[in-house]
Amino acid sequence: MPLPAVDDRIAISDLATDPYSFYRKARADHPVVTVKAVGRTMLTKAADTKYVKDSWELFSSDDPNTPMRRAFQAHTLMRKDGAAHQRERTAMASTFSPRNLREVWMPLYEDIADDYIGRLPRGETVDLFAELAAPLSARCLSHLIGLDHASDADLCRWSQTLIDGAGNFGQLQSLFDATDKVNDEINAAIGQTVTAPEAAGRPHAIAVMLGQEAPLEIGAIQSNIKIVIGGGINEPRDAMLTAIFGLLDNPEQKQAVLAGTTSWLNVFEEAIRWVAPIQLSSRRAVEDTQIRGYDIPAGDVVMTIQASANHDEEVIENGHLFDIHRPRAPHQAFGNGPHFCLGTHVARKMVADIVLPRLFDRFPEMSLDTDQQVAFRGFGFRGPINMPVRLN
Ligand code: HEM
Repeated sequence: MPLPAVDDRIAISDLATDPYSFYRKARADHPVVTVKAVGRTMLTKAADTKYVKDSWELFSSDDPNTPMRRAFQAHTLMRKDGAAHQRERTAMASTFSPRNLREVWMPLYEDIADDYIGRLPRGETVDLFAELAAPLSARCLSHLIGLDHASDADLCRWSQTLIDGAGNFGQLQSLFDATDKVNDEINAAIGQTVTAPEAAGRPHAIAVMLGQEAPLEIGAIQSNIKIVIGGGINEPRDAMLTAIFGLLDNPEQKQAVLAGTTSWLNVFEEAIRWVAPIQLSSRRAVEDTQIRGYDIPAGDVVMTIQASANHDEEVIENGHLFDIHRPRAPHQAFGNGPHFCLGTHVARKMVADIVLPRLFDRFPEMSLDTDQQVAFRGFGFRGPINMPVRLN
């Protein structure tokens, strides 16, 4: 069997600017391709990304060279398999229970959204990235994890620094210096919650992990809270902004959703299908195997490119277009298999049920600022880096 084709031309900076052109060509010409700049073999077809994530006994989440381990100063639950993974995932699961969502988090998120959207100035041009999506996502998450004593600015900085570290495939020392500092700050903030007398019995993730019959060791609590910070702020932020851009750039679709002919849930799902906030994941082959007829030797790390899977011509027509009217089909933006996103329902409800309807209800004539371009960036994580709009 042949080894996958090798691409030694594309640079990480090219992928951060425009990954989709590379993936489209890869799907057509060499859907399993080893990319020198990343040091991993990319899987760009939907069937392959799903197969690898579902086959966790053959494809381990424990990538020995992941920059995430250095950035988080530990292996988090995301890099564990089987019983070790289940133990840590289950330890925080009750925070995300349907009852907590219904009775605790969503009523709180409604108040937070009313507050943050209520502060936006009518008739002015603002950047919704900085003025709404980032701080609102941070505030919501701060309560869910039990770090509501931290400021929005700190939470956003922690999240971005951890994400930059987790994606530090070029192993830049300056990025790891920054994650070391942020690790100290987050550990101190967690310590403040752990020692607070009112923590016991609360539904937030720190209290729930501490309250287990066999509580996780503090190091595991710290690293998994960092995963939720890295996984729970930038992603709803990017989903929100991508949805807003999709609607403002396609006024007919905006009218359709405001007229109630389609749902906010469709808008949300289409936004994260179109530009997946987490574009890829890594898995290590535990034995010699093949994918699509190519040899994958034991120990090789494959990257499941869910961003590409969500545009795969075999499962979706014109996937490069934002279209809330397309028939709803499963996408892979929340992953597959045992590591399927734990925050799926929180994110869906927060963005589709609360933030988007409230924002467009208050500013139904909102429009993109024609003087400024909206830019999308990112290779591992992707979304708009600005969202200048006129609020009317
Ligand atoms: C639109 C928003 C979101 C998207 C697109 C998203 C996407 C993902 C993806 C693709 C994974 C799997 C990664 C892999 O397989 O290696 C994941 C895992 C995870 N997500 Fe999310 N996420 C979102 C929001 C959230 C939120 C709001 C939270 C927490 C409040 C969260 C918490 C987690 C956790 C804890 C994991 C790790 C699960 C495990 O390893 O078992 N996510 N997410």
